[in-house]
Amino acid sequence: MAYLELQGIAKRFGEVEVVAEMTLAAEPGEFIVLVGASGCGKSTTLRMIAGLEAPSQGRIVIDGRDVTQSTPADRDIAMVFQNYALYPHMDVAQNMSFALELAGTPRAHIAERVQAAAKVLNISHLLERKPKELSGGQRQRVAMGRAIVREPKVFLFDEPLSNLDAKLRGHMRIEIALLHRRLGKTTVYVTHDQIEAMTLADRIVVMDQGRIQQMGTPDEVFNRPLNQFVAGFIGNPGMNFLDAVVQADGGRLQFAGQAFRCDVPPPMQAAAAGLAGQPVVVGVRPQSLQLEPAPGALTLPLQVDVCEYLGTETVLGCTLRGRDAASLDELGTITLVVPGRHSDRVGTSLQAYAPLERLFAFEPGGHGRSLSL
Ligand SMILES: Nc1ncnc2c1ncn2[C@@H]1O[C@H](COP(=O)(O)OP(=O)(O)O)[C@@H](O)[C@H]1O
Ligand SMILES: [Mg+2]
Repeated sequence: MAYLELQGIAKRFGEVEVVAEMTLAAEPGEFIVLVGASGCGKSTTLRMIAGLEAPSQGRIVIDGRDVTQSTPADRDIAMVFQNYALYPHMDVAQNMSFALELAGTPRAHIAERVQAAAKVLNISHLLERKPKELSGGQRQRVAMGRAIVREPKVFLFDEPLSNLDAKLRGHMRIEIALLHRRLGKTTVYVTHDQIEAMTLADRIVVMDQGRIQQMGTPDEVFNRPLNQFVAGFIGNPGMNFLDAVVQADGGRLQFAGQAFRCDVPPPMQAAAAGLAGQPVVVGVRPQSLQLEPAPGALTLPLQVDVCEYLGTETVLGCTLRGRDAASLDELGTITLVVPGRHSDRVGTSLQAYAPLERLFAFEPGGHGRSLSL
């Protein structure tokens, strides 16, 4: 049975619907990541789970109990915010024990729980320090410690790593994953960062404009995105998109764009057959484009504008050109990630190839369905 259930919860502020009919069920111990661009309703959703915001409709069930009307304190939930505001005049141990003291937990228990949480978080040696004597990462750990000592049923995280620099963020990401493995608590984690989503989640919930676009394992949302929005949001650099038309030519189905033409990959043919003459958006990940020709591959004539050498690979920022090499028509930008060093290619032309089995295609409009389904 699901441990945490959102049953059609929605949130309206006046006329504006910020979260629309959200339904999801988290298994006991599951790590769910809500991911989406700023303003898509992630924090509002989390605040409704925490009880800090009342849903306009729907129910929230935790461990079999309807908590929709319960106060935050009565939900047995702990939340870690991006802005973790530790009390500056209290030391680490006091910061961690404060909520337990308020709740009237016996002193001996408090000390025990603080010690245990500090050990899990590797901050046992910092218990007597004040927040100003800590690094950003240590402060974030104390904020997590404050949540852990409460031994909640559910952990909620709202962009907990956004204030940290990139390197520390990567480090803390691993710590949070380890922590989750150790504690095994049902967790809902909000982030705008698709890398955090991919690396931490058992299941990712991709949101856009207050709506769930897809719910699935990292593998599912990456390899079987339901629409163009999900395809473009998950993956780094983002997927390339090409406008095309489905052409049916004597039984042969093709994607035809201004600078390319290729057969419709077999898994998409059934869906594409019904779309003859219609526009579609062909998608290809930067890592799926290669410089070596491949038979039948999608072939793109490109001009290289930027080379970003990253050590083992190079990100090529290119402009798609018209079909013949002399054409100056610019038909959009295309990003490739290719092995090795290619700094001498700036300003040159090249052809990039994507094997048909690596292509995606979507009905246009951003939220149109994938042709692979
Ligand atoms: N109290 C409020 N009153 C009116 N609009 C709000 C309120 N809180 C949030 N919003 C709006 O709801 C939308 C979603 O906000 P939020 O859930 O914070 O998004 P996210 O966390 O995904 O960035 C935003 O457009 C925001 O301006
Ligand atoms: Mg937010």
